[in-house]
Amino acid sequence: MTSLAFQVFLASLFFVLPQVSSRSTNLPNVPPGVFTVSARIEIKTTTSAAWNALVDFPSYPNWNPFVRSAIVITPDGAHLPEQRPVENRRAVFRVQIPPLPLPVTASTPENPLHTQIAFENITHIQPDLGRLAWKYISLPQALDSERWQAISSIGNGRVLYESREVFSGALAPTLRDTLGEGLQEAFEAQAKGLKLLLEGTL
Ligand SMILES: *[C@@H]1O[C@H](CO)[C@@H](O)[C@H](O)[C@H]1NC(C)=O
Repeated sequence: MTSLAFQVFLASLFFVLPQVSSRSTNLPNVPPGVFTVSARIEIKTTTSAAWNALVDFPSYPNWNPFVRSAIVITPDGAHLPEQRPVENRRAVFRVQIPPLPLPVTASTPENPLHTQIAFENITHIQPDLGRLAWKYISLPQALDSERWQAISSIGNGRVLYESREVFSGALAPTLRDTLGEGLQEAFEAQAKGLKLLLEGTL
């Protein structure tokens, strides 16, 4: 088998595996924190299409009302030629909190008052489990948060998309009071944006 054929074979195995019922979750258990934001949505699509949309950073501006730009960088901030999330790399995200109204395209203007820049370590890219995660880089102890996203097949041609971030650390109560509601709206808007992208309607 050529190496490309082998990769395609592996990918086909991976995308059959995650299978959960619509009541359960494919997110990992993590300890509770000061507050949590989360979203889940059912999408008529395939797990491979949902996975490909989540790891295709350069296409985020075309559909994502929350993360308007996602760029994989070296530790000193240079853009990497390969713009897909890779474990142990860093990424810089430009986000809108609260999110932009749907639908969005690459040319939808941002609200400068709602723009935040976040540097994150890419911690988990697990195509076999349908999970990916990145962790916010902050001053030690100030904020501890890791955003997990997961996809899983729930049968009947439907995929469950889930996203969750648990916040702890000294700044978490302030973050909850200032941006908690906007972040929750942003997670829900990204889930709807993904559904719109993959189904063509809401
Ligand atoms: C991010 O990764 C670097 C190593 O690349 C590590 O030194 C740092 O502690 C990590 N930060 C967080 C918040 O995990």
